[in-house]
Formats: sequence, C-alpha cells, structure tokens
Amino acid sequence: MDFTIAPLTGRTELVEQLDGLWPAFVTKDPTGAFFYRHYQDFWPEFTLLAVDGATGRVAAKAHSVPLSFTGDIGEGLPENGWDWAIRTAALDRLAGTGPTVVSALEITVRPDLRGRGLSGRMLAALRDNAARLGFADLIAPVRPTGKPAQSTRPIDDYAYETRADGLPADPWLRVHVRAGGRIVNVAHSSMVAAGSLEQWRSWTGLPFDRTGPVAVPGALTPVHCDVEQDHAVYVEPNVWVHHRA
Ligand SMILES: CC(C)(COP(=O)(O)OP(=O)(O)OC[C@H]1O[C@@H](n2cnc3c(N)ncnc32)[C@H](O)[C@@H]1OP(=O)(O)O)[C@@H](O)C(=O)NCCC(=O)NCCS
Repeated sequence: MDFTIAPLTGRTELVEQLDGLWPAFVTKDPTGAFFYRHYQDFWPEFTLLAVDGATGRVAAKAHSVPLSFTGDIGEGLPENGWDWAIRTAALDRLAGTGPTVVSALEITVRPDLRGRGLSGRMLAALRDNAARLGFADLIAPVRPTGKPAQSTRPIDDYAYETRADGLPADPWLRVHVRAGGRIVNVAHSSMVAAGSLEQWRSWTGLPFDRTGPVAVPGALTPVHCDVEQDHAVYVEPNVWVHHRA
C-alpha cells in the first residue's frame, strides 16, 4: 500500500478518522485532554498523518511536541514523562521559551493495518520531521503495548526484559530500539487519571466496589480503588527512549 506521510497542517477533519480507539479511562488524564483539545492550533507541524493514496483514508497518525529540556538526556528524563512533556511544551509557549528537543506522544495505526510494519515508518517520519524542524533529538515516553497482559509485574522488570537476540521483549519498545532508540529510564508516573468510583464505573463498566487494586482492560498497572474515600487513581508508567533526529 502506498502512503504519503506529512504534517497535519490544515487537514483537521482527516485526523478525526482515528478518534475513539483508546479505552475511555486513558482519555481522562487532564493533561492529555488539554493536549488533544489544542494540538491542532498549537503544534500542527508536529502531528503527522499517513494517508493511503488509493483511498484517501488515514492509515496512521503520530503526535509530538517541541519542548525545552536543559539537562543531559542520557542522565535521565523526568518521572512524570508524558504529562511533563505536554505541560512543558504548553508552558514554553506561554513563556516564549525556545524548545530544544521534540517529544513523541503517540503513534496510532488504523486497526486493520496493524502488524505490517507501519509503526516503524511513522517513527522514522517523526524523527525526520524533528530534524526538518531543526532539532537533533527525539525523546519518547513509550507506552509498552505488551504490558497490559502483565499488569501486576513491576515496570522496572518488564521494561528491561530482552529476547535472545538482545532486543526488548515488548513489541513496541522493540520497534523503538530497532529504529536506533536507546532506553533511558522508566517514567513511573507518566500519566495519571483520577475520578470518583461512579466515574470509573462509567469509564470501564467494572463495579469498583472493593478497596484495593483493580485490573482494568488496557491498563498497564492495576488501578488503585478506595471505596471509603470514593475515588480511584490510575498511574501509568512509560519508558523513556532517546532517538537522535
Ligand atoms: C503499537 C502500534 C502503533 C504498532 O503498530 P503496527 O504497525 O501494528 O506495528 P508493527 O507492524 O510495526 O509491529 C511492531 C512489532 O509488534 C509485533 N506485533 C504486532 N502485533 C502484535 C500483537 N498483537 N502481539 C504481539 N506483538 C505484535 C510485530 O511482530 C512487531 O515486532 P517485530 O518487528 O519484532 O516482529 C499499533 O498496534 C497501535 O496503533 N496500537 C494502538 C495505539 C498504541 O498503543 N500506540 C502505542 C502507544 S502511543
């Protein structure tokens, strides 16, 4: 299939074709909600669309943001990865601070086109786009796609598991490392979604009627449920990967 990969700029209606693919609770992180409300106005050059030349349909999208980071990437990136990247990019805009690095935020491939290597092309395109816009580094708080199947396993163990060939056992981390990325560190509280138990019931369809960890489909770690306080909190770990752009 022949795809054209290019920045979103001016094609806002196309990107909506890939809406609604995430579990509801993932969209309840307020920082993420802020990003998806404003990225088209704030950072259109940093979102890429792959469009199928034959049908004109969107095959995949990739989101990223420019932000300032003054530290040494190799020495570690912030614990609150995804949320930090979005907040820093937004605060930089407000303060007029010049960005120094691009952070990837999401790559989504249309479900019927998964398993054909398109994600690697989107990642390469994000890196090329960062270079085109004058950046030398692309960082990514990667959401390991195999982690929900092992949700109680510690992320510090999971993130560094490798196969016999030395590549990460997790398929999505493997795409990043095969593309030349280097795992820097785990961001233990990369995304946080909190709500009342009634909200969690509506987001997941689960009872949320016992205090303790709750396994939620699609969650990388158990959700913390507190019946006495009538709230539950999901803290998602991601894995920082550094690419040279
Ligand atoms: C993660 C995602 C972007 C991968 O896109 P893709 O184009 O299907 O991925 P690829 O075809 O390049 O496959 C990537 C690797 O995962 C493996 N893989 C694909 N589907 C798999 C599955 N269901 N289970 C396990 N491994 C799988 C592939 O074999 C490949 O590994 P390999 O190259 O070592 O063989 C896509 O599944 C997706 O859009 N998921 C929903 C959104 C998401 O989770 N995005 C990532 C976080 S932002």
